[in-house]
Amino acid sequence: MLPPSAYKDPTVFSWEQRHFFGGGWTCVGFSADLTSAGDQRAESVGDGGVLLTRDEDRVLHAFANFCRHRGHELLPCGESVQRQSIVCPYHSWTYSLDGGLKAAKGFKGARGFDDTAWGLVELPVIEWHGLIFVDGSGTAGSLTDALAELEELVVPYEPERLAIHGRHTYDAASNWKILTENYHECYHCPMIHPELCKVSPPKSGENYPVSGVWVGGWMDLREGMETMSLDGTSLGVPLRGLDEVGLRTVIYVNIFPNVLLSLHPDYVMTHRLTPLSADRTIIECTWAFAPEALERPDFDPGYAVEFWDITNKQDWGACESVQRGLSSPHAVAGPLSPDEDAVYQYVTMVARGYQGQSVWDPAARIAVAG
Ligand code: FES
Ligand SMILES: [Fe+2]
Repeated sequence: MLPPSAYKDPTVFSWEQRHFFGGGWTCVGFSADLTSAGDQRAESVGDGGVLLTRDEDRVLHAFANFCRHRGHELLPCGESVQRQSIVCPYHSWTYSLDGGLKAAKGFKGARGFDDTAWGLVELPVIEWHGLIFVDGSGTAGSLTDALAELEELVVPYEPERLAIHGRHTYDAASNWKILTENYHECYHCPMIHPELCKVSPPKSGENYPVSGVWVGGWMDLREGMETMSLDGTSLGVPLRGLDEVGLRTVIYVNIFPNVLLSLHPDYVMTHRLTPLSADRTIIECTWAFAPEALERPDFDPGYAVEFWDITNKQDWGACESVQRGLSSPHAVAGPLSPDEDAVYQYVTMVARGYQGQSVWDPAARIAVAG
């Protein structure tokens, strides 16, 4: 394990906010939440916030969420608005959807005031299979390149084509890394997940070779089970791009730092982690299904949502207990079992990050893979 301080020390947390969440590509939401021109949404990223906009040409933009006048947030983080311009709520400076300053009350014709110099600060943004990632550092390089190997695994699921039809927000009293480590192993499954063990053998599957920016593996479904649900049946439709193997397995991958992507034969579940403090994390969980499934008269996403809601709560309960356990002044780092090899890969990635190697940097990726 990492040292206990990595999970509870506010100084470590601040460092991670700046260097992990604000220092590279972090997921800030879903393309499905910004589909029309004028859609705007603000999200927190690391130490600051980001304003996302969809412009008239349907191009997505990301701006540092502060007004160029005196710094007011353009939109409170977590809120959405639909408007054809960006209007600061403080003194009404107004920007176009692509960030240019359109109007600044009282400045018209003012000597020395060049409105082209006062546009919003734009950040690199990318839509990857329906997920929106922002590079808060502006210098992290290509996320597409960093995810090239994962791309091959994800393409058959076409997550960008699926419709989100289930969404839960959880507030867990646990460090974001404890939640992620828990996702990376099923060593705990026989103890806390009776429902999961009924449909998927906890010792099945393997992990993928490490690539540097993502960690993950796959697990089998038990014979006769169609998907992860309480009785193993699916009320959805198998995803059209999957082969025989895809229909019998579930893939679990973590894109550093804050996405847990779970690819099922008939739906895609996504957890997006937003840490609030060393011991508190907001988890947004979504379930997305094929459009054909939604057309079925008996379609009800509950079969997937209920199963994972039960499992999620079992997981968060365990993670909260780990957080409390590690708060002991006597806590020391423990050893990882062979069944926790993905946890090892993950903590190695984090530790290399602490040492200053960017997980998004190709050179560092090769070092991790080696
Ligand atoms: S701070 Fe935005 S208009 Fe003044
Ligand atoms: Fe679990």
